[in-house]
Amino acid sequence: MKKVGVAILGLGVVGGGTYKILTEHREDYRHNYDVDIVVENVLEKRLDRVRELGIDESKAAANIAEICSNPEVDIVVEVMGGVEPAKSFVLAALNAGKSVVTSNKELFCKYSHELEKAARHNRCGLFYEATCVGGVPVIRTLLDNLQGNTIKSIIGIINGTTNYILTKMSQDGAPYEEVLAQAQELGYAEADPTADVEGYDATYKLSILSSLAFHTKIPYTKIYREGITGINIADIEYGKKLGYTIKLLAIGKNGNNGIEARVHPAFVRSDHPLASVGGSYNAVYITGDAVEDVMLYGRGAGAEPTGSAIVGDIIYCATHVNFQYSTFKNTEDALPTTKFRENFESCYYIRINAFDKTGVLAKVASIFSRCGVGVAQMVQEDAGKNSSVPIIFITHKTKEFSVNKAVAEINATAEIAQVASVIRVVD
Ligand code: HSE
Repeated sequence: MKKVGVAILGLGVVGGGTYKILTEHREDYRHNYDVDIVVENVLEKRLDRVRELGIDESKAAANIAEICSNPEVDIVVEVMGGVEPAKSFVLAALNAGKSVVTSNKELFCKYSHELEKAARHNRCGLFYEATCVGGVPVIRTLLDNLQGNTIKSIIGIINGTTNYILTKMSQDGAPYEEVLAQAQELGYAEADPTADVEGYDATYKLSILSSLAFHTKIPYTKIYREGITGINIADIEYGKKLGYTIKLLAIGKNGNNGIEARVHPAFVRSDHPLASVGGSYNAVYITGDAVEDVMLYGRGAGAEPTGSAIVGDIIYCATHVNFQYSTFKNTEDALPTTKFRENFESCYYIRINAFDKTGVLAKVASIFSRCGVGVAQMVQEDAGKNSSVPIIFITHKTKEFSVNKAVAEINATAEIAQVASVIRVVD
Protein backbone atom coordinates (compact mmCIF):
# COMPACT_ATOMS: atom_id res chain seq x y z
CA MET A 1 0.00 0.00 0.00
CA LYS A 2 1.24 3.49 -0.86
CA LYS A 3 2.22 5.50 2.23
CA VAL A 4 1.90 9.29 2.07
CA GLY A 5 3.40 11.51 4.77
CA VAL A 6 1.79 14.83 5.65
CA ALA A 7 3.07 17.85 7.60
CA ILE A 8 0.57 20.38 8.97
CA LEU A 9 1.72 23.99 9.36
CA GLY A 10 -0.48 25.54 12.06
CA LEU A 11 -2.76 23.74 14.51
CA GLY A 12 -5.42 26.41 14.90
CA VAL A 13 -9.09 25.69 14.25
CA VAL A 14 -8.62 24.40 10.68
CA GLY A 15 -5.31 22.60 11.32
CA GLY A 16 -6.84 20.84 14.32
CA GLY A 17 -9.95 19.86 12.33
CA THR A 18 -7.77 18.50 9.52
CA TYR A 19 -5.67 16.43 11.93
CA LYS A 20 -8.81 15.02 13.53
CA ILE A 21 -10.36 13.97 10.19
CA LEU A 22 -7.10 12.42 8.95
CA THR A 23 -6.55 10.36 12.08
CA GLU A 24 -10.17 9.31 12.61
CA HIS A 25 -10.55 8.19 8.98
CA ARG A 26 -7.08 6.70 8.42
CA GLU A 27 -8.40 3.14 8.18
CA ASP A 28 -11.19 4.21 5.77
CA TYR A 29 -8.67 5.80 3.43
CA ARG A 30 -6.49 2.68 3.56
CA HIS A 31 -9.52 0.59 2.71
CA ASN A 32 -11.22 2.89 0.19
CA TYR A 33 -8.27 4.45 -1.64
CA ASP A 34 -5.42 2.05 -0.95
CA VAL A 35 -3.36 4.83 0.58
CA ASP A 36 -2.02 5.20 4.10
CA ILE A 37 -1.96 8.89 5.04
CA VAL A 38 0.22 9.55 8.06
CA VAL A 39 0.82 12.88 9.80
CA GLU A 40 4.61 12.91 10.09
CA ASN A 41 5.18 16.47 11.31
CA VAL A 42 3.40 19.51 12.64
CA LEU A 43 4.70 23.07 12.88
CA GLU A 44 3.11 24.82 15.85
CA LYS A 45 4.70 27.05 18.48
CA ARG A 46 1.94 26.32 21.00
CA LEU A 47 2.79 22.89 22.32
CA ASP A 48 -0.47 22.85 24.32
CA ARG A 49 -2.28 22.54 20.97
CA VAL A 50 -0.02 19.66 19.97
CA ARG A 51 -0.73 17.86 23.26
CA GLU A 52 -4.48 18.56 23.20
CA LEU A 53 -4.75 16.81 19.84
CA GLY A 54 -2.82 13.83 21.23
CA ILE A 55 0.07 14.33 18.80
CA ASP A 56 3.40 12.87 19.87
CA GLU A 57 5.65 15.87 20.64
CA SER A 58 8.47 14.29 18.66
CA LYS A 59 6.44 15.15 15.56
CA ALA A 60 6.54 18.89 16.36
CA ALA A 61 9.20 20.31 14.05
CA ALA A 62 11.40 23.17 15.22
CA ASN A 63 11.17 25.00 11.89
CA ILE A 64 10.15 24.68 8.24
CA ALA A 65 13.63 23.52 7.22
CA GLU A 66 13.23 20.42 9.35
CA ILE A 67 9.98 19.57 7.51
CA CYS A 68 11.47 20.31 4.09
CA SER A 69 14.35 17.94 4.76
CA ASN A 70 12.19 15.14 6.17
CA PRO A 71 12.03 12.47 3.43
CA GLU A 72 8.90 10.99 5.03
CA VAL A 73 6.90 14.16 4.25
CA ASP A 74 5.27 14.20 0.80
CA ILE A 75 2.55 16.82 1.30
CA VAL A 76 2.73 20.05 3.29
CA VAL A 77 -0.61 21.45 4.48
CA GLU A 78 -0.50 25.20 5.10
CA VAL A 79 -3.31 26.39 7.38
CA MET A 80 -1.60 29.32 9.08
CA GLY A 81 -3.34 32.17 7.27
CA GLY A 82 -1.87 35.59 6.38
CA VAL A 83 0.80 36.23 3.79
CA GLU A 84 4.03 35.85 5.78
CA PRO A 85 5.55 33.60 6.92
CA ALA A 86 3.06 31.34 5.09
CA LYS A 87 4.36 32.37 1.66
CA SER A 88 8.01 31.67 2.49
CA PHE A 89 7.05 28.33 4.06
CA VAL A 90 4.97 27.25 1.05
CA LEU A 91 7.71 28.23 -1.40
CA ALA A 92 10.31 26.40 0.72
CA ALA A 93 8.13 23.27 0.70
CA LEU A 94 7.57 23.40 -3.08
CA ASN A 95 11.26 24.01 -3.71
CA ALA A 96 12.02 20.98 -1.56
CA GLY A 97 9.79 18.90 -3.85
CA LYS A 98 6.79 18.62 -1.53
CA SER A 99 3.26 19.10 -2.82
CA VAL A 100 1.25 21.77 -1.00
CA VAL A 101 -2.37 21.95 0.13
CA THR A 102 -3.43 25.37 1.39
CA SER A 103 -6.55 27.01 2.80
CA ASN A 104 -4.97 30.47 2.66
CA LYS A 105 -7.15 32.60 0.37
CA GLU A 106 -5.23 35.84 0.86
CA LEU A 107 -1.91 34.15 0.04
CA PHE A 108 -3.32 32.25 -2.93
CA CYS A 109 -5.24 35.21 -4.31
CA LYS A 110 -2.26 37.57 -4.14
CA TYR A 111 0.57 35.17 -5.04
CA SER A 112 -0.89 32.25 -7.01
CA HIS A 113 1.43 33.19 -9.89
CA GLU A 114 4.57 32.73 -7.75
CA LEU A 115 3.33 29.62 -6.01
CA GLU A 116 2.19 27.94 -9.21
CA LYS A 117 5.47 28.75 -10.95
CA ALA A 118 7.39 27.04 -8.12
CA ALA A 119 4.98 24.06 -8.18
CA ARG A 120 5.38 23.55 -11.94
CA HIS A 121 9.15 24.01 -11.78
CA ASN A 122 9.48 21.39 -9.05
CA ARG A 123 6.79 19.10 -10.54
CA CYS A 124 4.71 19.29 -7.36
CA GLY A 125 1.02 19.64 -6.75
CA LEU A 126 -0.58 22.84 -5.47
CA PHE A 127 -4.11 22.36 -4.14
CA TYR A 128 -6.41 25.08 -2.77
CA GLU A 129 -10.01 23.82 -2.54
CA ALA A 130 -10.19 25.12 1.05
CA THR A 131 -9.37 28.71 0.05
CA CYS A 132 -12.94 29.30 -1.14
CA VAL A 133 -16.21 28.55 0.62
CA GLY A 134 -14.81 26.09 3.21
CA GLY A 135 -16.34 22.66 2.80
CA VAL A 136 -18.32 23.51 -0.35
CA PRO A 137 -16.53 21.82 -3.28
CA VAL A 138 -16.60 24.71 -5.71
CA ILE A 139 -13.02 24.72 -7.03
CA ARG A 140 -12.98 21.11 -8.15
CA THR A 141 -16.50 21.55 -9.53
CA LEU A 142 -15.17 24.31 -11.80
CA LEU A 143 -11.95 22.47 -12.69
CA ASP A 144 -13.15 18.91 -12.98
CA ASN A 145 -16.88 18.90 -13.64
CA LEU A 146 -17.97 22.07 -15.41
CA GLN A 147 -14.85 22.43 -17.56
CA GLY A 148 -16.81 21.75 -20.75
CA ASN A 149 -18.91 24.87 -20.24
CA THR A 150 -18.37 28.51 -20.93
CA ILE A 151 -19.15 29.90 -17.49
CA LYS A 152 -21.37 32.93 -17.88
CA SER A 153 -21.66 33.94 -14.26
CA ILE A 154 -20.82 33.01 -10.75
CA ILE A 155 -22.84 34.62 -7.98
CA GLY A 156 -22.23 33.70 -4.39
CA ILE A 157 -22.72 34.29 -0.73
CA ILE A 158 -19.13 33.46 0.09
CA ASN A 159 -18.63 35.05 3.48
CA GLY A 160 -20.35 33.43 6.46
CA THR A 161 -19.73 36.21 8.97
CA THR A 162 -21.53 38.85 6.95
CA ASN A 163 -24.32 36.45 6.01
CA TYR A 164 -24.82 35.72 9.71
CA ILE A 165 -24.92 39.45 10.53
CA LEU A 166 -27.34 40.36 7.70
CA THR A 167 -29.60 37.38 8.48
CA LYS A 168 -29.79 38.35 12.18
CA MET A 169 -30.42 42.01 11.34
CA SER A 170 -33.29 40.92 9.06
CA GLN A 171 -34.77 38.43 11.52
CA ASP A 172 -34.43 40.41 14.76
CA GLY A 173 -34.63 43.96 13.45
CA ALA A 174 -31.43 44.66 15.41
CA PRO A 175 -28.90 47.26 14.25
CA TYR A 176 -25.56 46.36 12.67
CA GLU A 177 -23.37 47.27 15.69
CA GLU A 178 -25.47 45.18 18.09
CA VAL A 179 -25.47 42.09 15.82
CA LEU A 180 -21.73 42.43 15.13
CA ALA A 181 -21.05 42.44 18.90
CA GLN A 182 -23.19 39.28 19.29
CA ALA A 183 -21.37 37.62 16.38
CA GLN A 184 -18.03 38.42 18.02
CA GLU A 185 -19.20 36.94 21.34
CA LEU A 186 -20.31 33.76 19.56
CA GLY A 187 -16.97 33.49 17.76
CA TYR A 188 -18.48 33.99 14.27
CA ALA A 189 -16.78 37.34 13.78
CA GLU A 190 -13.14 38.13 14.54
CA ALA A 191 -12.16 40.74 17.17
CA ASP A 192 -11.06 42.83 14.17
CA PRO A 193 -13.91 42.16 11.72
CA THR A 194 -12.56 44.37 8.91
CA ALA A 195 -11.62 41.59 6.47
CA ASP A 196 -15.14 40.14 6.59
CA VAL A 197 -17.41 43.18 7.01
CA GLU A 198 -15.56 45.35 4.50
CA GLY A 199 -15.69 42.58 1.90
CA TYR A 200 -11.95 41.83 1.56
CA ASP A 201 -12.38 38.12 2.38
CA ALA A 202 -15.10 37.78 -0.27
CA THR A 203 -12.96 39.72 -2.76
CA TYR A 204 -10.02 37.31 -2.35
CA LYS A 205 -12.34 34.34 -2.88
CA LEU A 206 -14.06 35.91 -5.90
CA SER A 207 -10.65 36.62 -7.45
CA ILE A 208 -9.77 32.91 -7.22
CA LEU A 209 -13.19 31.65 -8.37
CA SER A 210 -13.63 34.06 -11.27
CA SER A 211 -10.06 33.46 -12.51
CA LEU A 212 -10.89 29.76 -12.69
CA ALA A 213 -14.36 30.28 -14.13
CA PHE A 214 -13.30 32.74 -16.83
CA HIS A 215 -9.82 31.29 -17.57
CA THR A 216 -7.99 34.56 -17.05
CA LYS A 217 -6.39 36.11 -14.02
CA ILE A 218 -8.83 38.41 -12.20
CA PRO A 219 -6.65 40.28 -9.69
CA TYR A 220 -8.47 41.22 -6.48
CA THR A 221 -7.48 44.83 -7.15
CA LYS A 222 -9.80 44.81 -10.21
CA ILE A 223 -12.80 43.78 -8.12
CA TYR A 224 -15.24 46.48 -7.04
CA ARG A 225 -15.67 46.15 -3.27
CA GLU A 226 -18.24 47.50 -0.84
CA GLY A 227 -18.83 46.04 2.64
CA ILE A 228 -21.92 45.83 4.84
CA THR A 229 -21.14 48.52 7.43
CA GLY A 230 -23.48 51.03 5.78
CA ILE A 231 -26.52 48.73 5.75
CA ASN A 232 -29.26 49.85 8.09
CA ILE A 233 -32.42 48.32 9.43
CA ALA A 234 -34.72 50.81 7.69
CA ASP A 235 -33.57 49.64 4.25
CA ILE A 236 -33.77 45.97 5.23
CA GLU A 237 -37.39 46.54 6.32
CA TYR A 238 -38.37 48.58 3.25
CA GLY A 239 -36.70 45.92 1.08
CA LYS A 240 -38.69 43.15 2.77
CA LYS A 241 -41.97 44.95 2.02
CA LEU A 242 -40.96 45.04 -1.64
CA GLY A 243 -40.15 41.30 -1.63
CA TYR A 244 -36.36 41.49 -1.27
CA THR A 245 -33.75 39.96 1.04
CA ILE A 246 -30.39 41.62 1.66
CA LYS A 247 -27.17 39.65 1.06
CA LEU A 248 -23.48 40.41 0.60
CA LEU A 249 -22.95 39.06 -2.91
CA ALA A 250 -19.82 38.25 -4.85
CA ILE A 251 -20.62 38.54 -8.55
CA GLY A 252 -18.50 37.54 -11.52
CA LYS A 253 -19.90 37.81 -15.04
CA ASN A 254 -18.32 37.18 -18.39
CA GLY A 255 -20.20 38.70 -21.29
CA ASN A 256 -19.76 40.46 -24.62
CA ASN A 257 -18.86 43.71 -22.86
CA GLY A 258 -16.09 42.14 -20.81
CA ILE A 259 -15.71 40.80 -17.31
CA GLU A 260 -17.48 42.22 -14.27
CA ALA A 261 -16.25 41.32 -10.82
CA ARG A 262 -17.79 42.91 -7.76
CA VAL A 263 -18.53 42.35 -4.10
CA HIS A 264 -21.27 44.45 -2.55
CA PRO A 265 -24.51 44.21 -0.58
CA ALA A 266 -27.49 43.53 -2.82
CA PHE A 267 -31.19 42.88 -2.60
CA VAL A 268 -32.22 39.54 -4.09
CA ARG A 269 -35.81 38.62 -4.73
CA SER A 270 -37.05 36.64 -1.73
CA ASP A 271 -37.92 33.70 -4.02
CA HIS A 272 -34.37 33.55 -5.47
CA PRO A 273 -32.51 30.41 -4.26
CA LEU A 274 -29.78 32.60 -2.71
CA ALA A 275 -32.34 34.40 -0.52
CA SER A 276 -32.91 31.29 1.57
CA VAL A 277 -29.20 30.86 2.37
CA GLY A 278 -29.30 32.05 5.96
CA GLY A 279 -27.02 32.39 8.98
CA SER A 280 -23.38 31.52 8.46
CA TYR A 281 -24.11 29.25 5.48
CA ASN A 282 -22.58 29.93 2.07
CA ALA A 283 -23.74 29.20 -1.46
CA VAL A 284 -22.43 29.62 -4.97
CA TYR A 285 -24.72 29.87 -7.98
CA ILE A 286 -22.95 29.10 -11.23
CA THR A 287 -24.41 29.48 -14.71
CA GLY A 288 -22.74 27.65 -17.60
CA ASP A 289 -23.82 27.69 -21.24
CA ALA A 290 -24.43 23.94 -21.34
CA VAL A 291 -25.28 22.98 -17.77
CA GLU A 292 -27.42 26.11 -17.12
CA ASP A 293 -27.77 26.77 -13.36
CA VAL A 294 -25.93 24.89 -10.62
CA MET A 295 -26.07 25.84 -6.95
CA LEU A 296 -23.68 24.58 -4.28
CA TYR A 297 -24.60 25.16 -0.64
CA GLY A 298 -22.94 24.43 2.68
CA ARG A 299 -20.61 25.48 5.46
CA GLY A 300 -18.08 28.05 4.31
CA ALA A 301 -15.95 27.95 7.45
CA GLY A 302 -15.24 25.95 10.58
CA ALA A 303 -12.77 23.27 11.64
CA GLU A 304 -14.27 20.22 10.04
CA PRO A 305 -16.01 21.69 6.97
CA THR A 306 -12.76 23.40 5.95
CA GLY A 307 -10.84 20.29 7.06
CA SER A 308 -13.06 18.27 4.73
CA ALA A 309 -11.87 20.36 1.76
CA ILE A 310 -8.24 20.04 2.83
CA VAL A 311 -8.43 16.28 3.30
CA GLY A 312 -10.16 15.99 -0.10
CA ASP A 313 -7.13 17.73 -1.62
CA ILE A 314 -4.70 15.52 0.31
CA ILE A 315 -6.40 12.36 -0.97
CA TYR A 316 -6.58 13.74 -4.52
CA CYS A 317 -2.87 14.59 -4.39
CA ALA A 318 -2.01 11.20 -2.87
CA THR A 319 -3.93 9.27 -5.52
CA HIS A 320 -3.10 11.20 -8.73
CA VAL A 321 0.12 11.04 -10.66
CA ASN A 322 -0.37 14.14 -12.81
CA PHE A 323 -1.03 17.40 -11.04
CA GLN A 324 -3.58 19.96 -12.10
CA TYR A 325 -2.69 23.62 -12.62
CA SER A 326 -4.67 26.70 -13.58
CA THR A 327 -6.31 26.78 -16.97
CA PHE A 328 -5.08 30.31 -17.71
CA LYS A 329 -1.84 32.24 -17.83
CA ASN A 330 -1.35 32.74 -14.12
CA THR A 331 0.26 36.17 -14.07
CA GLU A 332 0.38 38.75 -11.28
CA ASP A 333 -1.90 41.11 -13.17
CA ALA A 334 -4.61 40.52 -15.75
CA LEU A 335 -3.38 40.14 -19.31
CA PRO A 336 -3.66 43.38 -21.33
CA THR A 337 -6.23 41.63 -23.53
CA THR A 338 -8.64 41.06 -20.62
CA LYS A 339 -11.43 43.62 -20.80
CA PHE A 340 -13.04 44.67 -17.51
CA ARG A 341 -16.41 46.29 -17.32
CA GLU A 342 -16.71 48.89 -14.55
CA ASN A 343 -19.84 50.58 -15.81
CA PHE A 344 -21.92 47.46 -15.21
CA GLU A 345 -25.69 47.22 -15.35
CA SER A 346 -28.00 46.46 -12.48
CA CYS A 347 -31.37 47.41 -11.07
CA TYR A 348 -31.10 49.72 -8.06
CA TYR A 349 -32.99 50.45 -4.86
CA ILE A 350 -32.63 54.17 -4.19
CA ARG A 351 -34.09 55.72 -1.03
CA ILE A 352 -34.30 59.46 -0.93
CA ASN A 353 -35.44 61.68 1.90
CA ALA A 354 -37.50 64.42 0.31
CA PHE A 355 -39.03 67.50 1.88
CA ASP A 356 -42.78 67.58 1.54
CA LYS A 357 -42.89 70.45 -0.96
CA THR A 358 -44.72 70.83 -4.24
CA GLY A 359 -42.60 69.91 -7.25
CA VAL A 360 -40.02 67.79 -5.39
CA LEU A 361 -41.03 64.57 -7.08
CA ALA A 362 -41.06 66.20 -10.51
CA LYS A 363 -37.56 67.52 -9.92
CA VAL A 364 -36.22 64.11 -8.82
CA ALA A 365 -37.96 62.43 -11.77
CA SER A 366 -36.41 64.90 -14.18
CA ILE A 367 -32.92 64.19 -12.77
CA PHE A 368 -33.47 60.44 -13.20
CA SER A 369 -34.70 60.95 -16.72
CA ARG A 370 -31.79 63.26 -17.67
CA CYS A 371 -29.26 60.74 -16.32
CA GLY A 372 -30.88 57.82 -18.15
CA VAL A 373 -32.23 56.12 -15.02
CA GLY A 374 -35.60 54.47 -15.68
CA VAL A 375 -37.91 53.98 -12.69
CA ALA A 376 -39.76 50.66 -12.46
CA GLN A 377 -41.43 51.19 -9.09
CA MET A 378 -41.87 54.02 -6.60
CA VAL A 379 -43.16 53.86 -3.02
CA GLN A 380 -43.66 56.75 -0.65
CA GLU A 381 -43.24 55.71 2.98
CA ASP A 382 -44.72 57.29 6.08
CA ALA A 383 -42.64 60.27 7.27
CA GLY A 384 -43.25 59.38 10.93
CA LYS A 385 -41.86 62.14 13.14
CA ASN A 386 -39.36 63.24 10.52
CA SER A 387 -39.64 66.43 8.53
CA SER A 388 -38.64 64.60 5.34
CA VAL A 389 -40.48 61.81 3.56
CA PRO A 390 -38.72 58.58 2.54
CA ILE A 391 -39.38 57.76 -1.11
CA ILE A 392 -38.08 54.51 -2.55
CA PHE A 393 -37.36 53.96 -6.22
CA ILE A 394 -36.59 50.63 -7.84
CA THR A 395 -34.98 51.28 -11.17
CA HIS A 396 -35.01 49.35 -14.39
CA LYS A 397 -31.68 47.87 -15.42
CA THR A 398 -29.40 50.89 -15.46
CA LYS A 399 -25.71 51.61 -15.86
CA GLU A 400 -23.76 52.12 -12.61
CA PHE A 401 -22.29 55.44 -13.76
CA SER A 402 -25.75 56.79 -14.66
CA VAL A 403 -26.98 56.05 -11.15
CA ASN A 404 -23.88 57.68 -9.62
CA LYS A 405 -24.54 60.78 -11.71
CA ALA A 406 -28.21 60.92 -10.70
CA VAL A 407 -27.33 60.46 -7.01
CA ALA A 408 -24.77 63.29 -7.17
CA GLU A 409 -27.33 65.58 -8.84
CA ILE A 410 -30.05 64.80 -6.30
CA ASN A 411 -27.62 65.40 -3.45
CA ALA A 412 -26.82 68.78 -4.97
CA THR A 413 -30.47 69.76 -4.34
CA ALA A 414 -30.07 69.69 -0.54
CA GLU A 415 -33.02 72.03 -0.05
CA ILE A 416 -35.46 69.48 -1.48
CA ALA A 417 -34.04 65.96 -1.32
CA GLN A 418 -31.06 63.81 -0.25
CA VAL A 419 -30.17 60.26 -1.18
CA ALA A 420 -30.16 58.14 2.00
CA SER A 421 -29.11 54.84 0.44
CA VAL A 422 -28.40 53.04 -2.81
CA ILE A 423 -28.45 49.24 -2.91
CA ARG A 424 -28.09 47.18 -6.07
CA VAL A 425 -30.90 44.75 -6.84
CA VAL A 426 -30.19 41.37 -8.42
CA ASP A 427 -33.07 39.72 -10.21
N1 HSE B 1 -14.14 34.56 7.67
C1 HSE B 1 -14.67 33.72 6.67
C2 HSE B 1 -16.19 33.82 6.64
C3 HSE B 1 -14.34 32.27 6.84
O1 HSE B 1 -16.76 34.45 7.52
O2 HSE B 1 -16.80 33.27 5.74
C4 HSE B 1 -13.08 31.84 6.23
O3 HSE B 1 -13.02 32.16 4.87
